Amino acid sequence: MAKGIKTSYVCSECGHREPKWTGKCPDCGAWDSFVEETVSFVPEAAKQSAPVRELSAVSLEDISFKDENRYKTGLGELDRVLGGGIVKGSLILLGGDPGVGKSTILLQICEHLGKVLNILYVSGEESKRQLKIRAARLGVTSASLSILTETDILSIAGYIEKSSPDIVIIDSIQTMNMSSLASSPGTVTQVRECTSVLQRTAKALDIPIFVVGHVNKDGNIAGPKVLEHIVDVVLYLEGDRGLSYRMLRAVKNRYGATNEMGVFEMSDSGLEEVPNPSEMLLSGRPVNTAGSCIACVMEGTRPILAEVQALVSKTGFGNPRRVSTGFDYNRLNLILAILEKRAGYYFSNLDVYVNVVGGFRLDEPAADLTVALSLISGMLDIVIPDDVIAFGEMGLAGETRAVSNAAERISEAKRLGFKRCFIPANNLKKLDMRQFDGIEVIGVKSIGDVIPFIKGQR
Ligand SMILES: Nc1ncnc2c1ncn2[C@@H]1O[C@H](COP(=O)(O)OP(=O)(O)OP(=O)(O)O)[C@@H](O)[C@H]1O
Ligand SMILES: [Mg+2]
Ligand SMILES: [Zn+2]
Repeated sequence: MAKGIKTSYVCSECGHREPKWTGKCPDCGAWDSFVEETVSFVPEAAKQSAPVRELSAVSLEDISFKDENRYKTGLGELDRVLGGGIVKGSLILLGGDPGVGKSTILLQICEHLGKVLNILYVSGEESKRQLKIRAARLGVTSASLSILTETDILSIAGYIEKSSPDIVIIDSIQTMNMSSLASSPGTVTQVRECTSVLQRTAKALDIPIFVVGHVNKDGNIAGPKVLEHIVDVVLYLEGDRGLSYRMLRAVKNRYGATNEMGVFEMSDSGLEEVPNPSEMLLSGRPVNTAGSCIACVMEGTRPILAEVQALVSKTGFGNPRRVSTGFDYNRLNLILAILEKRAGYYFSNLDVYVNVVGGFRLDEPAADLTVALSLISGMLDIVIPDDVIAFGEMGLAGETRAVSNAAERISEAKRLGFKRCFIPANNLKKLDMRQFDGIEVIGVKSIGDVIPFIKGQR
């Protein structure tokens, strides 16, 4: 082996390095995640001869900042997730499963951005012709969009400096390659080094750079932790294979909140914004079916209604099954335990399947009360009327605890035509009831308070 080249093993999950292959990563605990990589080191002599640069620091006061430094993408949902648009000089990583629409959304925004900006789209994956076909389908005709098919990151960085575009898209980081590194494209070392080059370019030229990243089988971008540190914004585009809509979330954002979510629908002409996700999630809801209840969760600043379904059936043999899709599995078990201990509903010989309709994920405790109601409804086989909605966190004593943004949630339910709303009693005290005519708001202290209502529907 040539001098200065060494083999080591890198954890593909967290980037931890070991001299020998190990079954379990001592850093992040992942199993079978080590891959062999050859690393080339800069010879000592070259290091010493590198010139020492003159440095100068700037007073914070003298650094200019304006909010106009954000570019609007033309997709309101994307702008919102970004915290109001694209910030100049930022490196934005867009991750997602194969075929979810990463290239589509980035090509799409070129049309709007291209009206005022020069865009460079670097593709390491698709040919110019393929890109042209997609652009034609999406109606992207901007003359200020240039396409470069290249994978050598240093050449690309050089080209960016020379051609000085206003915005750059790199599709995808896993195909990029730094030839001085011995490891192949897509490995942790390559991905990290290529991202660092792009980060320096973005900062030096003060231009935004989008980077597409594929996710591995666990749903993480290759070398996720190492990458997430380097970039400024991490976005994930998610969606169910069988369904046409896609959700965009920020996992990290140096320029905005991370709890905002954008909703899109995939069509022939690309991703279309869904301004009213609640309506979409509730469409096609079954009528007069037991085991269904509507939840209201906050996604950032926006309340969203979603249907929770519970199927409760007799266990065939052995241990009862617990399946939860779109709702935390442990939280489901907790709610089952609370219902058993505090309300006297025994699920120990019953299989329980909980599903949040539409591939939506409820990760807010405010959905607890809804899940509990759909479980009871499913168990007793009693239909909860269509115009009922419920939200509230459940405590271990069976009490319902106040949640944030109660007024916004009720308003959204009212807007969509719901007539009755069960909320935690503690929330009720602080609400101004005058704003909610047309919807009956009922405060509940514990899960026991709602049960007579359900039984009354029999
Ligand atoms: N003619 C078409 N009509 C409607 N939808 C289409 C059409 N062609 C492609 N699509 C949609 O676009 C998706 C592919 O989008 P795109 O290539 O942007 O995904 P990607 O995330 O970049 O994937 P990859 O990881 O493979 O690069 C397909 O899964 C499909 O849903
Ligand atoms: Mg793609
Ligand atoms: Zn690890």
